[in-house]
Amino acid sequence: MEKHLLVIHGPNLNMLGKREPEIYGSTTLYEIDAKLKALGEMSDIRVETFQSNHEGAIVEKIQEAVGKCHGLIINPAAYTHTSVAIRDAILLLDVPVIEIHLSNIYKREPFRHKSMVADIATAQISGFGVQGYYLALKGIVGRMKDES
Ligand code: DQA
Repeated sequence: MEKHLLVIHGPNLNMLGKREPEIYGSTTLYEIDAKLKALGEMSDIRVETFQSNHEGAIVEKIQEAVGKCHGLIINPAAYTHTSVAIRDAILLLDVPVIEIHLSNIYKREPFRHKSMVADIATAQISGFGVQGYYLALKGIVGRMKDES
């Protein structure tokens, strides 16, 4: 059976390429998603990507994935630091979850040091820029295959 990996991007990540490029780089979200899908295909994994600027839409997307997806990569963006709702939704999943950040959140303002997701995620990648997404995919695909 083909495995399904869900990738969720939180608020303002649709602006990658234009948004604070000195922090987040010049790659667009479209380019990241296209590469993730191509890398997934090479491992026989169907990669579905989703971006929203709305907390409730992200919660609903995670709820819909319960029992359907085999892994989740999520950059909750600003909701990382605030969202009990996204944390609670992630707790519904019984699959590997990678939390990813383009920037190193621990080198930035103190309010970014707290993650509502870190202690319930399988792993966290923070500070590798776009390469972090590709590392996350490699790591989670290994986990998803171990668990099959
Ligand atoms: C981010 C870090 C967050 O603090 C910030 O609000 C973002 C992006 C990152 O990828 O580095 O929007 O998650």
